[in-house]
Amino acid sequence: GPNLSTCHPTSSQNADTPHRSSHELNCCPALPDSREPIIKDFQLPSPSSASPVRIRRPAHRLALDKEYLTKYNKAVAIMKRLPPDHPHSWHRQSQIHCIYCNGAYNQASADGAADVPFMVHGSWLFFPFHRFYVYFHERILGKLIGDDTFALPYWNYDSPDGMPIPDIYMKGELHDEKRATRHLPPAPVAIDYTPDKLDTGYVEPPAAEQAAINLALLYQHMVSGALKPELFMGCKLRPGEDGACFGPGTVEAAPHNSVHLWVGNTDLPEYEDMGTIYAAARDPVFYAHHTNIDRLWALWRRLHGYRGARPEFDDPQWLDSHFYFYDENADLVRVGVRDAIDMDRLGYAYEEVDLPWLDARP
Ligand code: C2O
Repeated sequence: GPNLSTCHPTSSQNADTPHRSSHELNCCPALPDSREPIIKDFQLPSPSSASPVRIRRPAHRLALDKEYLTKYNKAVAIMKRLPPDHPHSWHRQSQIHCIYCNGAYNQASADGAADVPFMVHGSWLFFPFHRFYVYFHERILGKLIGDDTFALPYWNYDSPDGMPIPDIYMKGELHDEKRATRHLPPAPVAIDYTPDKLDTGYVEPPAAEQAAINLALLYQHMVSGALKPELFMGCKLRPGEDGACFGPGTVEAAPHNSVHLWVGNTDLPEYEDMGTIYAAARDPVFYAHHTNIDRLWALWRRLHGYRGARPEFDDPQWLDSHFYFYDENADLVRVGVRDAIDMDRLGYAYEEVDLPWLDARP
């Protein structure tokens, strides 16, 4: 896990990312005072009390649900108006991404890893970390509007109807200006996208063709190319390692990275917002992207026989890895990978939809 007392300025880009430029940045929280922070251990709800009350629905089907949209917009508006240093503010919520994914903390480790940054991308920490990130974000949004059943939507880009940026993210509090104008609706997301394609005169294919490409790639990354957890979950990051291990799992590479880069604006220096780690979570669609990534993890587990609490790896170095988040009561909570495994116990679920990629074997 990270050592919370080591937060330091960092660089906006890690060596392996395809961006044209980078800059120094400081995403650390303002120092509260000289006291040690009070840290609570996360308590997983007991299996009986954890009936899923938060049902995450596909974003493209919510365009007419006025009541829901009013709530969601209101919660985000409240977040945006909080003082920037408040742990529930839109600003601090988005800085979590910079802290954990641009390496603002060093690792907390007794064995000589003290100066090694703690970073969750490109490794088996990717899915558990982002599961908790959206989990707490969702609970905070619900708390701000007094609704403990509030659920984030998911961007269902693994289904042709859901491939464009969902309309609900094109207006109100959910809109973000820093996106690629070529990729606004009705353009379907390109799961095979990389920005360097643009330099080689790449022209995006017609929508139906792109949708077929997407489904075939999803089949590969969810099924045929992801038969083993090593392939799906990413590199087994060990204490004291960072860059040496970098190796994203199939779904982290695509659709995860490709969707980020596809939404970000390549006319901006680092493809802000979604196309770069430090700014990605400033765009509200980030959270719908990550609920879908989280859902793809859950679907992969189901397809490959990992039920309930059965982990992908029995390795204690994975299960005991941990992160810190502010919960909906603004308490600082320590959560472990172990607690991320059994989604059903976390009290949310995904509305089921057809999975056309299951029949899209290339
Ligand atoms: Cu920490 Cu979508 O990434």
